[in-house]
Amino acid sequence: MSLKQIEKEIQGCRRCGLADGRTNIVFGDGNPKAKLMLIGEGPGRDEDLQGKPFVGAAGQLLNKILEAAEIKREDVYIANIVKCRPPGNRVPNRKEARACLPWLWQQIETISPRIVVLLGSTALQNLIKPDARITKMRGQWLESKSGIKIMPTYHPAALLRDPSKKKPVWEDFQKIRDEYKKIMNN
Ligand code: URA
Repeated sequence: MSLKQIEKEIQGCRRCGLADGRTNIVFGDGNPKAKLMLIGEGPGRDEDLQGKPFVGAAGQLLNKILEAAEIKREDVYIANIVKCRPPGNRVPNRKEARACLPWLWQQIETISPRIVVLLGSTALQNLIKPDARITKMRGQWLESKSGIKIMPTYHPAALLRDPSKKKPVWEDFQKIRDEYKKIMNN
């Protein structure tokens, strides 16, 4: 199935209560053939209004990080654990995430990226292990059964709240950049 077909199917989705509060479904954005995919938590206010992921303050910071790592935003694909904005930007609960995850699995399967970057605890816990700690697991490569390299790191919004996280995130993105360059040059 193509991304366009999946996006068509998701229209009108009512698999969880987040449907009630949304303006737009934030499906995902970027290169459908991306080698690198970034996964965040869920849309905030700006994303809900524009229907695109990471366009608000956290998105601006993510753009800067990608630029510093010499990764073009238009070359990657960006999606979230949940596609509809949780009220007041609260963390999506397990039930909402589980209802939404099949869409993300389809996106990952279709795009077939070589690298997946998990932005923050919500992405890590819903995709890897419910009790995983981002502080412990960030900066280390994991690998999926199908050979996708997975790097958990802090969410850009966490950096806005706590600038001491900038250094570790930059270290993580240097590893991501090196691996990405290797893949792109092969
Ligand atoms: N935070 C996220 O996790 N995702 C977005 O799309 C925007 C902010």
